Amino acid sequence: MVVDFKNEPYTDFSKEENRRAFEEALRKVEAELGREYDLIIGGERIKTDRKAQSINPSNIDQVVGIVSQADTALAEKAIQAALKAFETWRRVPPEARARYLFKAAAILRRRKHEFSAWMVYEAGKSWAEADADTAEAIDFMEYYGRQMIKLAERQPLVRIPTEDNEMYYIPLGVGAIIPPWNFPLAIMVGMTTSAIVTGNTVVLKPASTTPVIAAKFMEILEEAGLPAGVVNYVPGSGGEIGDYLVDHPKIRFISFTGSKEVGLRIYERAAKRQPGQLWLKRVIAEMGGKDAIIVDSSADLELAAQGIVVSAFGFSGQKCSACSRAIVLEDVYDQVLELVAEKTKALKVGDVRNPDVFTGPVIDEKAYNKILSYIEIGKSEGRLVVGGGKGEGNGYFIQPTIFADVDPRARIMQEEIFGPVVAFTKAKDFDHALEIANNTEYGLTGSVYSRNRFNLEKAREEFHVGNLYFNRKCTGALVGVHPFGGFNMSGTDSKAGGPDYLLLFTQAKVVSEVL
Ligand code: NAD
Ligand code: ALA
Repeated sequence: MVVDFKNEPYTDFSKEENRRAFEEALRKVEAELGREYDLIIGGERIKTDRKAQSINPSNIDQVVGIVSQADTALAEKAIQAALKAFETWRRVPPEARARYLFKAAAILRRRKHEFSAWMVYEAGKSWAEADADTAEAIDFMEYYGRQMIKLAERQPLVRIPTEDNEMYYIPLGVGAIIPPWNFPLAIMVGMTTSAIVTGNTVVLKPASTTPVIAAKFMEILEEAGLPAGVVNYVPGSGGEIGDYLVDHPKIRFISFTGSKEVGLRIYERAAKRQPGQLWLKRVIAEMGGKDAIIVDSSADLELAAQGIVVSAFGFSGQKCSACSRAIVLEDVYDQVLELVAEKTKALKVGDVRNPDVFTGPVIDEKAYNKILSYIEIGKSEGRLVVGGGKGEGNGYFIQPTIFADVDPRARIMQEEIFGPVVAFTKAKDFDHALEIANNTEYGLTGSVYSRNRFNLEKAREEFHVGNLYFNRKCTGALVGVHPFGGFNMSGTDSKAGGPDYLLLFTQAKVVSEVL
């Protein structure tokens, strides 16, 4: 009997002892930077000649780790190892599989600050963002373990007197797990452990910019005693081994989180039956967002401005859930814009080892250049109010940037920038605001700040996003509390951290015996 699920609490960094413990973890991790990490296939560590360097985005001269890179031959080896492990792992009772997750969660909880510190160095997360990422990773394992135990219970079917009928959920087979870098621990852990707790085995291809955090998580799985081959760690280029994994006839499912472009590519390729392929591949794809916050005339404007700033500039806007569009009713538009501008100017930007920094770097040079080019586009599409360029320091720093008076159809209102940039637009009335909010190809998160019950009820019906929040920020979904995932080009409509998520990794079998 396990205790009820409870979200992992966040660390209170206003307490001296917590600050000291985190600084200690940063020192420990700093002493370990620059080490080498091998592939892990069927429990065997494999070094390759080709290696990639993982770099600290706050200090681009600092190497976080040097990581062996898989080619297609090693991707094949990993698939074969996962196929072999599947034959035994699928027979491990669900409760026992869940216990591996509970054990891994307990180990991670003990090493919490250390893992968060790795994210400070490898992903450029602020202390609070890194701490929340680690807490979410723990939550995913605690939650999915419990969900698996529930799923293994006898399913209620209509009984007939002449037969004994039973329905139960069996695993799919070998999956490719392809996570993003922006929640390098939480999302990677959630995607991996949901797949294995349901009895599948996997090839985990971590994101190219955050492979070290994934390698550290492999240490936890090993310490938890997970059998070899259940999770195979195969870092490498998405372009090179990604297609190979997706196309492979023995891959039964692909769990992907990342951009719309790569998600679409995977969806299309996975739909094509390959020689020797016995099944239709299942694709679970969580993709991008172009998330909006609506503020109406009745709202608490101070609260709304705070929500926009946190949602737009937390982790430098590099969340699929980040607010990149502020849609404000015209009679309060100037006031909200002014409040947001004031709060944005007060944000500290810089190296995230400093606990006072709110907005750290963006992840790499490619993202840096892309965001700066969107800022240039923004200068021709709107009125620059705050920021508008590079930040200072030896990292990929970009100033939190606000554009005002932007046309809802402008590129910076339509395309995912994935950086610290928010565009303001004016709405004539609440219906107009909803129309603007719904006019992108995405449908991930959104918020409405309002005290008007009629408007909130209307938004409940009409605002077409997977995660809609009222009078709070549009980021920071909690496992179990806010099952997370979007509509339209934001993905395949699944809900990570929700009660039906594990079903995506299973197939239901019905056995009927005449009595
Ligand atoms: P990305 O699409 O560039 O990469 C995601 C993963 O796909 C990486 O592991 C990458 O190596 C891999 N990849 C690249 N090419 C591939 C190919 N041809 N075949 C298979 N895999 C391939 O995305 P990213 O930059 O890592 O992450 C940012 C994106 O993720 C944003 O668009 C963001 O909105 C989205 N995201 C969505 C959610 C969600 O829950 N909806 C959560 C987090 C991030
Ligand atoms: N689940 C993350 C959030 O809600 C992306 O911000």
